[in-house]
Amino acid sequence: MNEEEKKEEDIEGLAVIETYGCQMNEHDSEKLAGVLKEKGYKLIEDTEKADVIILNTCCIRENAEVKVHGKIGYLKQYKRENPDLIIGICGCMMQQEGMAEKIKDKHPHVDIVFGTHNIHEFSQLLDAAEEESETIIDIWGEKEELIPDLPTRRETDHKAWVTIIYGCNNFCTYCIVPYVRGREKSRSSIDIVDEIKELADDGVKEVTLLGQNVNSYGYDLDRKIDFADLLEELDQIEGIERIRYMTSHPRDFTTKLIKTIADSNKVCEHFHLPIQSGSSRILEKMNRGYTQEEYLALVEEIRSYIPQAAITTDFIVGFPGERDEDFAETLKLVEEVEFDMAYTFKYSQRSGTPAAEMEGQIEEDVKQKRLQKLMDIQSDISAQKNKKLLGKTVKVLGDGESKNNPERQTGRTRTNKIVVFNSDKDLTGKLINVKINKASSWTLTGDLVK
Ligand code: SAH
Ligand code: SF4
Ligand code: F3S
Repeated sequence: MNEEEKKEEDIEGLAVIETYGCQMNEHDSEKLAGVLKEKGYKLIEDTEKADVIILNTCCIRENAEVKVHGKIGYLKQYKRENPDLIIGICGCMMQQEGMAEKIKDKHPHVDIVFGTHNIHEFSQLLDAAEEESETIIDIWGEKEELIPDLPTRRETDHKAWVTIIYGCNNFCTYCIVPYVRGREKSRSSIDIVDEIKELADDGVKEVTLLGQNVNSYGYDLDRKIDFADLLEELDQIEGIERIRYMTSHPRDFTTKLIKTIADSNKVCEHFHLPIQSGSSRILEKMNRGYTQEEYLALVEEIRSYIPQAAITTDFIVGFPGERDEDFAETLKLVEEVEFDMAYTFKYSQRSGTPAAEMEGQIEEDVKQKRLQKLMDIQSDISAQKNKKLLGKTVKVLGDGESKNNPERQTGRTRTNKIVVFNSDKDLTGKLINVKINKASSWTLTGDLVK
């Protein structure tokens, strides 16, 4: 964009934020977008036209990291064409030891590198980058107290994320998150309630409470409050229609919490309970803190209180030492639980985590075969479960135009299933009834019911 065009639009420039990884990163990106907006930048999608490009990185699996290196390399050509372009790299990958220096050595065209603990410094870093030609590295270790949140710029008007707890104390042996996001720190419930009330005043209908393990909420606070108590409080906030949360740990899912959800009006009947493996032997090596039997008992308890509950999960196949018998246990459990949906991953060796050093690392082709088998079985189960909704009318919160097919609109059920329907009116943020007439593994299709 040339200077005149910028003046005409009265903006400082154009900016792109590319986000990798989970909702924590998505939410952090909303904060970065808030800063960019305050500085007068307009957010766009096309990196070719941008004056500022920020990559918010993830390192949960190796392929996430490989993608980022590829992208940074690719951006070099833009920098050559436009030397004023500012390239910033942040997020979880940057919190890994030595990574910032590696980026500086390998990709000297990068202007700023910062981490997950100091995104509030983004504004100053941008200013500094305009003056400085060398890569500026600013990575913080963890701080004791929480730093007040930055204003966010949300992608959607009717839905919002709200962090309730930062970090993770669990140290599952395969996982990098505790090393890059630090220890658990809960936000005060007063701040959370205030934030959600403000969001409700702004017209937000659905909030998703964020944390790597939301069930640990409050353990570190002076005020005696746990996740169930928090949900009970939030259920009272007027204007909010739906409350979701991510992610909950099966080990910490108490009967009190299940009852609170069953008694609430707004907390959705969707339980995302990552199991990771169906084999108790592997679960122990993963340091997950529950056995196959305990997980099955939890599913049963949830279904006894909330029969219509949707249960979804995450699996890792090919964890070090996973034998055919262990994988067979996973498949058996999948058939038994009948998850509504599952995210399936091949184990990825993350250096610095205990599992990376374990004996019995599994060959890639074995992992691939197990992954495919698991996906095939789960996909059939998801389709069967969704087919049970054929002919039924479900309540949907409209999300607007379908990305794949702008002629149609999409929304989600309380159980978090995607529903596609026709409407000549934009129903974003509206609660509507849809009668389901088609069901596949991933999507439901239906007609609006007046
Ligand atoms: N805090 C959440 C999820 C964090 S990461 C939880 O405890 O469930 C999201 C998912 O990524 C995990 O559930 C796990 O299935 C997967 N994952 C994490 N580390 C991984 C690794 N090293 N290799 C493959 N998948 C991994
Ligand atoms: Fe990782 Fe386990 Fe923490 Fe989830 S609970 S973020 S898998 S260490
Ligand atoms: Fe990735 Fe960081 Fe989330 S490592 S999965 S973006 S917490």
